[in-house]
Amino acid sequence: MTNRYGALVVMTLAVVLCSCGGERPQQEGTVVISVLTWRPNSPQTWEQAIARFEEGNPGIEVDLQTGPSSSTQLHDMLAQRLRNRDSSVDVFVMDVVWPPEFAAVGWALPLDTLFEPGERELFFDGCVDAVTWEESVYGVPFFLDAGVLYYRTDLLERYGQDPPGTWSAMVRTADSIVSGEADPGLYGYSAQMAQYEGLVCDMLELVGSAGGSLMRPEEPEAIRALRFARDSLVHLEGMSPPGILIYKEQESLELFASGGAVFHRNWPYAWAVCADSATSDVVGKIGISVLPRFPGGESVSALGGWSFGVSPFSPHPEESWRFVSFMTSPEIQRLFAVEVGKPPARRSLYSDSAVLEANPHFRRMADVFENATPRPRSPVYPQISHRLQSFLHEAVGDPESDVPEMAAEAAEGLREILSRAEE
Ligand code: GLC
Repeated sequence: MTNRYGALVVMTLAVVLCSCGGERPQQEGTVVISVLTWRPNSPQTWEQAIARFEEGNPGIEVDLQTGPSSSTQLHDMLAQRLRNRDSSVDVFVMDVVWPPEFAAVGWALPLDTLFEPGERELFFDGCVDAVTWEESVYGVPFFLDAGVLYYRTDLLERYGQDPPGTWSAMVRTADSIVSGEADPGLYGYSAQMAQYEGLVCDMLELVGSAGGSLMRPEEPEAIRALRFARDSLVHLEGMSPPGILIYKEQESLELFASGGAVFHRNWPYAWAVCADSATSDVVGKIGISVLPRFPGGESVSALGGWSFGVSPFSPHPEESWRFVSFMTSPEIQRLFAVEVGKPPARRSLYSDSAVLEANPHFRRMADVFENATPRPRSPVYPQISHRLQSFLHEAVGDPESDVPEMAAEAAEGLREILSRAEE
């Protein structure tokens, strides 16, 4: 009896402690909204934004919960909570590929009357399309992403090389620099090839720039691009670091920012990381350009980016909306562009002097951002991506892979997923 009572007291205490987060005492009448995001690489910018929000909205406090930085893992964590109608998350960040699923299964509130058509026009079309499903909007765009190529200006200059136009020119240039430098810590290329959402983006770009599509992997254009990735990027001696098949954004960027690679594929935020001496050994030695293509193809950037959505299970939809509206305002998009290099989803900020001063390449890249290629839009996107991830990882990871056979199987798998979804 005493034991059970003791356990109850301990449990109650634990609940009380958890619910105050053990941090700030909560004032009576204060609404606390929980916001779930990935682990940010610049937590202080989030803190600054939240402090400004709380200052302007007395009576609302924000409890920031950070999940994994991998889009795939964050998706699964959030999906589990929403599937359980968990009311402990009010607002969440949504990757561009999530809204069709969230809309179809009722995991995000429609925001049509709040995020009005006139307001939507102020954002890039690709970002608004991404949060729209069957005529309703389920999120407000925060920032956009598009794949770009980073390179070491100092090394290219030393070897009299120009930024490459094609993938094979990139490999040749990297190869001559890596052999010339004879530095065992220097590789040719660093990118995201772990089995997760980032691999889908990197491969969409390669396959797209050969004129193919990831949804038709059995076609010759896709097969050619995947064989190239396998033989000339992943398995060519000295080209990619040994860990490439488990690299996500962070690991691939750490290698580049520490001076370990000549070329690097990443999203625009990598610029700010490389430009800061606290996180980079290559300050002032970095160039940025569009991604290479195959001969006869065109450069393709995957469209990425994130929006904010509101949970239909939130007990505080009004306060949640106030937060979403604040985080996607010009003021906060400017802050994230200036401090963290996130490309704003709002068009007007591309002529903002503070944004352009911190990100001089935005002017040149606005076209790339505007024309970036979306991934398939479908309520069953997680299944599509899952199938693609395992196929792509094996196709480029196994030096002996039978790409045409694996591609035919993957194509069949994709057809099945789509036809089951239509039933
Ligand atoms: C970036 C992009 C997102 C993409 C992810 C893949 O976060 O913004 O759209 O899915 O990278 O790793």
